Amino acid sequence: MAWTEREARERAADLDHHDPRFVVDPWPVYAEARRACPAVRSERYGGFWLITRYEELRASAKDWRTFTSSVPNVTAIPSSHAREEPDLPIEIDPPLHTRYRQLVAPVFTRHYVASLKPRVRELAGGLLDRILEVGGGDLVSGFSTPLSVGTLALFMDLPDEDHGRWASWVRRMYDPRDQEGARASTREYFAYCDELVAARRGEFVRMLLAAEVEGSRLTEQDVARFMRVLLIAGHETTAASMSHALRYLAENPDERRRLRDDPGLIPTAVEELLRYFSVVTLQARNATRDVVVGGAEIAQGDVVALGFAAANHDETVFPEPDRCVLERTPNRHVAFGYGPHVCLGAHVARLELAVMLELVGERVSELALVPGEEPTWNGTGSVRGLASLPVLIRR
Ligand code: HEM
Repeated sequence: MAWTEREARERAADLDHHDPRFVVDPWPVYAEARRACPAVRSERYGGFWLITRYEELRASAKDWRTFTSSVPNVTAIPSSHAREEPDLPIEIDPPLHTRYRQLVAPVFTRHYVASLKPRVRELAGGLLDRILEVGGGDLVSGFSTPLSVGTLALFMDLPDEDHGRWASWVRRMYDPRDQEGARASTREYFAYCDELVAARRGEFVRMLLAAEVEGSRLTEQDVARFMRVLLIAGHETTAASMSHALRYLAENPDERRRLRDDPGLIPTAVEELLRYFSVVTLQARNATRDVVVGGAEIAQGDVVALGFAAANHDETVFPEPDRCVLERTPNRHVAFGYGPHVCLGAHVARLELAVMLELVGERVSELALVPGEEPTWNGTGSVRGLASLPVLIRR
């Protein structure tokens, strides 16, 4: 149900990013929030500020001295789970953070990521063909999720024979109906990472263990922990982005045909789909001092959320922000964040989205939602994603 202006204004004054109605359609509420102030206050989840406008967001995201990440559990609202140690590199600040990013840099080079393309295409092509053969199905469980999980396995260079085991751990780890199974799979996955690192299996593990910056190196334990973080950071985010993009193509056949007829549009389309859907809506920091942002008086110790989604629809930077314009240029969106913590896996995510658009253009002649079967949402506002996307599809 569309928001009335009054409802959107009221909601913006006490924003709850997990509210199911807001998850589905946050844009009118964000527009009201931006109009109200570059930093709005919400009393939900113990109280937090949300930075809503693009310029203020970029300035705050860069200013890690004022807005620190190094308070364990602060980046998610509400904080997701108790941790004894910070999640690296998400919960540390420079200069430690800078050193850590330099050490993991070898596996995020364009060259290494681009080398994965043929195998990502093969994986995506196989998944798409399976759905094409039967003329339809759920594109979340049949395409976006397995492609996202499978690409991470390729990226981390897991042995081929382990891909099936790894995919089933991940499936069970994220199954909310089976808490015991989720815990067991998490333990097995962690033990598996430890084993791979100890055995120095795969180029990914070897590159990370060999990296050296000014005499410091990653320990085996650091590398194994990094493999866990990647799963959290790179799995649902990419799956959600692909699912939204596929839904968009199903609902906008002319746009799908335009991409098919002009694959040269794919690079700008990828950026626009990332901006338009902004699946990582916000990430929080903690104020280290009293500070004023756009007139809002933020006190030391307050939780401050960087509203990437709100900023990506800031009309002063993106004309017609609530329209998806596949050729939008310039498009300096903040879907991957901004500042020291900007997404490490951005090239991996872009590769998956581009491969998906290429293959849909090459192999799909018809794509539509199943009449009477609405896509469902995953229900969380931290990563806005679809839980199911039933479609009819033809070669
Ligand atoms: C479309 C998909 C993705 C989106 C929208 C996305 C978005 C983001 C955002 C907004 C941040 C910044 C967090 C902050 O400032 O606190 C981030 C950080 C991060 N992302 Fe992504 N991400 C995506 C895919 C991936 C993938 C595929 C990987 C791994 C291969 C990945 C790994 C990471 C890591 C490790 C960080 C932490 C960086 C740091 O703290 O220095 N992401 N991501």
